[in-house]
Amino acid sequence: MSQAATHEQIPPRDKVAASPPAFFSCRNLHAYYGESYIVQGVSFDIREGQILALLGRNGAGKTSTLRTIARTGSPELKQGEIWLDHKAIHSMRSHEAACNGIALVPEDRRIIPGLTVEENLQLAQIAEPVGWSIERIYDLFPRLGERRAQEGITLSGGEQQMLAIGRALARDLKLLLLDEPYEGLAPVIVQEIEKTLQEVRELGITTIIVEQNAIAALKLADRALILDMGEVVYEGAAQDVLDNKDIREEYLAV
Ligand SMILES: Nc1ncnc2c1ncn2[C@@H]1O[C@H](COP(=O)(O)OP(=O)(O)OP(=O)(O)O)[C@@H](O)[C@H]1O
Ligand SMILES: [Mg+2]
Repeated sequence: MSQAATHEQIPPRDKVAASPPAFFSCRNLHAYYGESYIVQGVSFDIREGQILALLGRNGAGKTSTLRTIARTGSPELKQGEIWLDHKAIHSMRSHEAACNGIALVPEDRRIIPGLTVEENLQLAQIAEPVGWSIERIYDLFPRLGERRAQEGITLSGGEQQMLAIGRALARDLKLLLLDEPYEGLAPVIVQEIEKTLQEVRELGITTIIVEQNAIAALKLADRALILDMGEVVYEGAAQDVLDNKDIREEYLAV
């Protein structure tokens, strides 16, 4: 490992001292697409191993918040701090954030065309630090193992979602960001992915799940955070949102 890489993984002393006690923490995030002010002062914490359901209506800023955390550069983070396991993610670019354990599984899944299932997984392991072995990923998703030689983009929607999650596990993962993992999938496939995410949950991977299917996300999650117009309007236990029809009607329309 180069000296520069080592240095980047160790934030300056004062930043270590200032890092919050939570495993993952966002502090007052403000992010813009050009002049468009979208993420407007979002703050929240997640404990290690917890799953947070990030909810809100269309256009509330859920995807933008995930993209801000993954340091994609669009939207651009102009103010605020992001801490993961005492690392200052806010001062990193996307590849550094990825090397420090942040994995974004975007809505469109980004399976690489022209590569087989196995090559998609191998590509994820091309740089250190790697996570699960490919065989272990096939144990979790036997369907991927059966189709290891098939071109990734020819998989069904559900299988592509498994491959996208598998690719995240192939890296040394500390925070999994799932953007609408059930999007476009038939109910029977949603059940299958739900089962998989339950297994991922048992592994204790700290996760943020964004879902239009709020009930499904809340059933999986420990905590719930609701966004509206780029601001946090509710934070609490996932079970409380499931139990509270008023909150669901006001912010989620479910
Ligand atoms: N690349 C972009 N350039 C400018 N504005 C954008 C861009 N992407 C998203 N926006 C705007 O930012 C706001 C939040 O969008 P975002 O995609 O984060 O919402 P969302 O909560 O994920 O919605 P959905 O549930 O529909 O996926 C919207 O008003 C959207 O139009
Ligand atoms: Mg979105």
